[in-house]
Amino acid sequence: MRTKILELLKSQEQISGAEISKALGISRTAVWKHIQKLQEEGYVIEAATKSGYRLKSVPDTLLAQELEPLLTTRELGRNFIFRREVTSTNDELRQLADAGAPAGTVLLAEVQTKGKGRLGRHWISPSGVGIWFSMLFRPDLPVARAPEYTLVTAVAVAEALQSFGLDAKIKWPNDVLIDGAKVCGILSEMRGDMDGLHWLIVGAGINVGQQALPEEIAATATSLALASGKSLRRSQVAAAVLNKMEYYSDLLQQQGFEPIRQRWLANAMVIGKEVKARTPSGVFEGIAMDLDANGCLLLRNADGKSTTVITGDIVVCE
Ligand code: BTN
Repeated sequence: MRTKILELLKSQEQISGAEISKALGISRTAVWKHIQKLQEEGYVIEAATKSGYRLKSVPDTLLAQELEPLLTTRELGRNFIFRREVTSTNDELRQLADAGAPAGTVLLAEVQTKGKGRLGRHWISPSGVGIWFSMLFRPDLPVARAPEYTLVTAVAVAEALQSFGLDAKIKWPNDVLIDGAKVCGILSEMRGDMDGLHWLIVGAGINVGQQALPEEIAATATSLALASGKSLRRSQVAAAVLNKMEYYSDLLQQQGFEPIRQRWLANAMVIGKEVKARTPSGVFEGIAMDLDANGCLLLRNADGKSTTVITGDIVVCE
């Protein structure tokens, strides 16, 4: 109901309680209660006895009422869950996945108290400045192909950010960077067996509004605000990512990994560069040559020897 009231408030300069009540078939008292709730959520709504309600400003919120109207998806985000605070959106969604939540469920939180990064790292997830969310997929794929979704997500995030005029690029395997500094990290988790995937959760964290970053990440990370000087609405960025994400996950389902690989390569910042890869089987240096059909990075060292990097982290050598 609040989404509908907001639609009415946004569609005209001012509107009376009686008009809203008539349009939506609810009492004027109910209208007033919803208006109060919206005001608590940060909407500035002027209420004058004679002229009615006037929406003066909309908060930078990720509540469903701001996000859902911007979605063009068929399935992704149609079951949208917003939480004020969670330990980790991946962990929270994992419980719902095990309990049978539908494919396409998106869980987004304002704050994560134990945000998880790759390789057991912590992901700093403060309130009001980021987009911390997880998406649930139930693709009919063998477990070994799950990492393709992580690469799909990197492509979707990079292209969504580019649609706001930002020069976002992908660093293998799935960090999204602007001017060489990380703005988004992606962490996938899955449950599956020999028969295939039961569920796949892809979590992404996008730094949006931070004007300064904590010391531990200040040298390597950035936010959209710091990188561009623009203040973007989080709901618009989140919706753009989800819209792209469904497009590319559909493409993966329909045409396999090759078109994704092409998009990944078109958006990658590492190809042709000298990199150092830290992997469980050692450190390798070489020129990043290509992404193979399994999403692994191919390096060629000074002796012409090739290495396939399956997992790990890379640093681009200056
Ligand atoms: C990385 O680059 O190390 C991956 C970071 C992933 C962070 C996101 S924020 C939303 C989701 N929930 C988590 O606990 N982690 C991911």
